Amino acid sequence: MGSTDTISFARGAPSLDIVAVDDLRAAADRAFSEDPAGAFSYGNAWGYGPLREWIAERQEVDTNRVLATNGSLQADDFLFRHLVSSGDLVVVEAPTYDRTLLALRNIGADLLTIPLEADGIDVGALEAALEEGARPKLAHIISSFHNPAGCTLSLEKRRRLVDLAERHDFVLFEDDPYVELRFEGEDVPTMLSLDQSDHVVYASSFSKTVCPGIRVGYLIGPPDLMGEIAAMATTTYISPSMVSQAIVAEFCRSGAIDRSIETVKAALRKRRDTLVDALGRHLPGARFVSPEGGYFLWAELPDGTDSRALQDAADEHGVKIIKGTDFLIEGGEDACRLAYSGVTPDQIDEGVSRLAAAVESLNGAKA
Ligand SMILES: Cc1ncc(COP(=O)(O)O)c(C=O)c1O
Repeated sequence: MGSTDTISFARGAPSLDIVAVDDLRAAADRAFSEDPAGAFSYGNAWGYGPLREWIAERQEVDTNRVLATNGSLQADDFLFRHLVSSGDLVVVEAPTYDRTLLALRNIGADLLTIPLEADGIDVGALEAALEEGARPKLAHIISSFHNPAGCTLSLEKRRRLVDLAERHDFVLFEDDPYVELRFEGEDVPTMLSLDQSDHVVYASSFSKTVCPGIRVGYLIGPPDLMGEIAAMATTTYISPSMVSQAIVAEFCRSGAIDRSIETVKAALRKRRDTLVDALGRHLPGARFVSPEGGYFLWAELPDGTDSRALQDAADEHGVKIIKGTDFLIEGGEDACRLAYSGVTPDQIDEGVSRLAAAVESLNGAKA
């Protein structure tokens, strides 16, 4: 790495060295020779059958609840467009995934923002809003290794949310692309698995465990609702990419997925450790919750540093971050998101040292 190369903590994507290229090539080879008719034809809007079956088994649900899409963002978008109309109330976390905010704003949804705590959304605040009469159509919750906050929703809060969704009759949308990437601590059951009354719709993805370029994600929910969304999918694209889904199905069935997950988790743990250590040394005033998995660390900046000014100063110092304000309707000036998925440990240390120099340059300018 040359000293002038930009180091990016901006993108929630894996670096190429942790993508299982050889296993993907072998999976493509087998998929194309063993099921050419399935891989190369249109298929239908529900997705490639063997992949849906594998997902259903892994998630312990019936196959008729699984709809495979071109990335999980497509699944999110279908669900939002199907269930939410302009003026409908939707619960979102603060902060939350910037593309969720964009999609819901484009529909014209009325957003009820509920703050995040170290163990996930402030369920007490949501409950109070519901008791005061709020009637959301849907609540969007990123349950594991939050984007951008890095936190994970506790079991107790998962139970309370499932209960609230049932009592107040709203769809609890569990957006969970990072669930397989725990490198520390104990697994927590999904809200999908806790739900007894069909109020949870679940989305996940192969972007973070295999690679984002393959564009395969999925939605799990009540069969009738999934059927309505499959009808939307048919008019949108006839069917998702069968070539991609056949490759992923073969990658999963052969066990390559589990090796890939282990590789990604080992790299993420090392990168998280290096990032936490580098922040302690170069930016001791930054405050954060150390993530137990996933791709992101949310850092509150030292000494009233404004993240919008910092993003620009960081660019000038050869390091990319995302300012906190991108993930909130209001607030976030004092925080930024650092993605450690796409950077190697030596880049991380150098990147944080550049970020500290950028903070210093702003504080120097203030003084
Ligand atoms: C919370 C969340 N939901 C959905 C997505 C979309 O992922 P995909 O690549 O499966 O479309 C992302 C990607 O970063 C994400 O962080």
